[in-house]
Amino acid sequence: MNVRQARAQDLLGMQNCNLHNLPENYQLKYYLYHIATWPQLSFVAEDDKGRIIGYVLAKMDEEPSDALHGHITSLSVMRKYRRLGIAEKLMRLSQRAMAEAFNAQYVSLHVRRGNIAALNLYRDNLKFSVHEIEAGYYADGEDAYAMRLDLRK
Ligand code: ACO
Repeated sequence: MNVRQARAQDLLGMQNCNLHNLPENYQLKYYLYHIATWPQLSFVAEDDKGRIIGYVLAKMDEEPSDALHGHITSLSVMRKYRRLGIAEKLMRLSQRAMAEAFNAQYVSLHVRRGNIAALNLYRDNLKFSVHEIEAGYYADGEDAYAMRLDLRK
């Protein structure tokens, strides 16, 4: 298993991983937009045969009125490879790149209220806190926790 920065050749593998693991899916051009615009911020984990088994897709927020910050668009790890620390590693690499390459002040993300595994990862391991609850944020009506982590500490 190897973790490295994502490249354009990884897009199909990342999309495949996303389709297996999350109901929030994106067109290929959206993955490409991330990697072309902020190539430092997205990472993949690959198995010994080079197949993508996890990814973090990340960007800088483009809202000019807010403080400079990064955003985690999507994170997932294939079921067989979970609980090995892959997601935590992907997140830490992206967070560090946001601070070092773009001087991001904080990183934000949304997570389903009922997603215990991801909530534990963000809150307990990575020390994010809940910024606000966005009622009915997801297409099926589930609430989101909008979470943030200060990167300046
Ligand atoms: N139950 C409870 N806590 C869990 C679980 C679980 N099943 N899995 C991970 N965690 C928490 C634990 O605190 C764990 O630390 P520990 O092992 O020291 O106890 C911590 O997360 C780190 O675990 P990792 O091994 O790094 O996480 P993993 O590589 O298994 O990936 C992930 C976690 C991404 C949530 C995975 O379960 C997954 O792909 N789930 C489906 C997709 C998903 O929910 N993605 C996040 C959506 S939010 C977003 O994309 C912004």
